[in-house]
Amino acid sequence: MQNYIDQSLAQEMTGATAPQKVEALFDYMERRGQSFYDEVVTQLEHALQCAALARQNEASSTLITGALLHDIGHIILDEHNADKAFLDMDLNHEAVGAQYLAPFFPEAVTTPIRLHVPAKRYLCTTDPSYHDGLSEASKRSLIVQGGVMSDKEREAFEQIPHFEDGLTLRRWDDLAKVKGLEISGLEAYRDIVQQCLSDR
Ligand SMILES: [Fe+2]
Repeated sequence: MQNYIDQSLAQEMTGATAPQKVEALFDYMERRGQSFYDEVVTQLEHALQCAALARQNEASSTLITGALLHDIGHIILDEHNADKAFLDMDLNHEAVGAQYLAPFFPEAVTTPIRLHVPAKRYLCTTDPSYHDGLSEASKRSLIVQGGVMSDKEREAFEQIPHFEDGLTLRRWDDLAKVKGLEISGLEAYRDIVQQCLSDR
């Protein structure tokens, strides 16, 4: 089955200047990020909380940008909590998001995005306490995401450049689900994201 991928953002960003690209991206997230990611936070709140954790931990600009944009695939695929099938189906939002952003951002941004779901599988495999700490929604989606990794899968994962950033992003992702947290809006990330664009 071919899933619907919203091309409107890519169309707006293609051929635009760097500031226009960031403007298009933020406008899109602001408009389309209001749907609920899970039971407690919207997609936009989740993205901002994840990016805030990256910033608090003094991550690189590319990893902060990756944290902010890591779930853009959910928005592009129009997956959200009102759609009950969202957690029981796997539309590969991580691969869709990374591929969608690849014309505009380097691999240091897109690889952690692409790895943030297999990173959960990796961490569940290597750290049993990690699995126990997951939310119910996240435990449910692990099953459709492939469950724990085989030794071969784990070794292959460790060969991927930036895989550690994927693991780090995953840990922030899990924490970025706090109801009503007061944090900076998208504006705080304009310069960081613009710096990370492939062609400025
Ligand atoms: Fe996420």
